[in-house]
Amino acid sequence: MAEVFVESLSIEQGLISDGDRDGWPFTVPCVAALARDGLDLRRPLTFLVGENGSGKSTLVEGIAEAFGLDARGGRAGRKYVNAREKTPLGKVMRLGLTREGARMQGGPRTRRRGYFLRAETTFGFAEVVSGLPGYWAEDLSAVSHGEGFAVIFRSMFREPGLYLMDEPEAALSFGSCLQLVALMHDLARGGGQVICATHSPILAATPDADIIEVGDFGLRRARWDELGIVDHWRRYLSEPAAYLRHLIDP
Ligand SMILES: Nc1ncnc2c1ncn2[C@@H]1O[C@H](COP(=O)(O)OP(=O)(O)O)[C@@H](O)[C@H]1O
Ligand SMILES: [Mg+2]
Repeated sequence: MAEVFVESLSIEQGLISDGDRDGWPFTVPCVAALARDGLDLRRPLTFLVGENGSGKSTLVEGIAEAFGLDARGGRAGRKYVNAREKTPLGKVMRLGLTREGARMQGGPRTRRRGYFLRAETTFGFAEVVSGLPGYWAEDLSAVSHGEGFAVIFRSMFREPGLYLMDEPEAALSFGSCLQLVALMHDLARGGGQVICATHSPILAATPDADIIEVGDFGLRRARWDELGIVDHWRRYLSEPAAYLRHLIDP
């Protein structure tokens, strides 16, 4: 396997208080599955694929915090990240680190490399940090969302590090999604590790990725062509009316 930083995820059961155990997020099926079985990350590129509400963001935020990235998003190595209270999952998430991962996480903050891209909050955040040291020079309030993402991708996703993304497809056209596929593939091949929550069948088709489906069943490893979203998109594109007749009165 190419070098990655995080090779497994688990939950430190002893740290969950009795009061928390029966509430969010431990009742979300994917979090319960992680608590029970843990999860191996077998490749430099992992997709967490599932419907809205399946728990993808909850998982990615927990991973971010466990690695020392801010759950609100942004670059690794920033100051004050550890001063904020973590999410309930971030507090108990344990990462199995490779030697390289342990070196990066245990070393000085400024040696940490990576980025947490949250599509939901990226724009307010990105406009504020444009021009600040360590970010990009372009003024993102003056470009389209798709172009803004391209700036972030080009300037932030360059060196080996841990890259977390939460539905990065949200603002992207078909063509921009394809560019992101190429970029994630390059990043993974160049020594980076990418963990990406998505419901885009385009992104999930990136070659050589490990795909984990997230849903009521918890977590399961899947092939791209077995994914629920791929089946739905295929059927919708070939006959939209078959779906829409259930939703729209003639
Ligand atoms: N801060 C929170 N407090 C309580 N419930 C939450 C919180 N954040 C998310 N949830 C719930 O947890 C579940 C998973 O949410 P989320 O991780 O955002 O899903 P996804 O990212 O897959 O759409 C949903 O049922 C959501 O309503
Ligand atoms: Mg989400």
